[in-house]
Amino acid sequence: MQIIKNTDELIKIRRNLKQNIGFVPTMGALHLGHLSLIQRSVAENELTIVSIFVNPTQFLEGEDFSKYPQTLEKDLQICKMAQVDIVFLPNTKSIYFKDELKIKAPPNRGFILEGLKRPAHFDGVLQVVLKLLNITTPTRAYFGKKDAQQFYLISKMARELFLDVEIVGCEIVRDDEGLALSSRNIYLSTDERKKALLISKSLKKSSDLVINGELETQLIKSKMKEILTDVEIEYVEIVDREFRLLKNLEIHNSIILIAVRVGKTRLIDNIWI
Ligand code: PAF
Repeated sequence: MQIIKNTDELIKIRRNLKQNIGFVPTMGALHLGHLSLIQRSVAENELTIVSIFVNPTQFLEGEDFSKYPQTLEKDLQICKMAQVDIVFLPNTKSIYFKDELKIKAPPNRGFILEGLKRPAHFDGVLQVVLKLLNITTPTRAYFGKKDAQQFYLISKMARELFLDVEIVGCEIVRDDEGLALSSRNIYLSTDERKKALLISKSLKKSSDLVINGELETQLIKSKMKEILTDVEIEYVEIVDREFRLLKNLEIHNSIILIAVRVGKTRLIDNIWI
């Protein structure tokens, strides 16, 4: 496994590679969710590149950028074990320029839900993902569906900027009790973890309601909120796969999304129906 820190060096190496490339961008603190993306990339491509870069431009003032979990040694072991070919470890200076041009998330889709709670977050995500895709020019790039709106906006960017890459969405990985894996779960105390389990419980409630024929989104959302008692709800919404709010849930075209705060930790989760 090669570890490359220099952007120009990776661009040079990449130019000489003729194989199919799978790319998994991450911010490190790898867990089984990341591993599932990496394993899928390794299975579907001749070579896999993983990037580890805590991207400053997607964090808002007051968010956890400076204390974002860093577990580099362990991350490298996971990559090696998973047979990753190249780990890209850039620093901020080698990714960003002074007074550089900016990508803007589309107002109607980028500034609702996550984008409303974290304005300009998606500008930063799209900016860095576009750079990373241009540096690695992969055949396929892998993203988790837990960040559903991120996955949607990156797919939209790839389509609308005619990027020559297949954007692949991977299923959410949960622990034994149903909590969606996230690098931020390590912030949770035992008591907060218990409260966080209400998130998947309320998503399960929503899918049970749908299985029993309930499609009215207001009703589904209010039943979910009844379960989310011990957490601070930021939003519970039901959208179609183009992130338009729905009055009536559409089977095979809907996503039920939750964002909550448990103590100081912000958690998101969703279910695709
Ligand atoms: O999902 C993430 O970890 C980040 O948003 C990403 C896609 C690596 C961009 O920094």
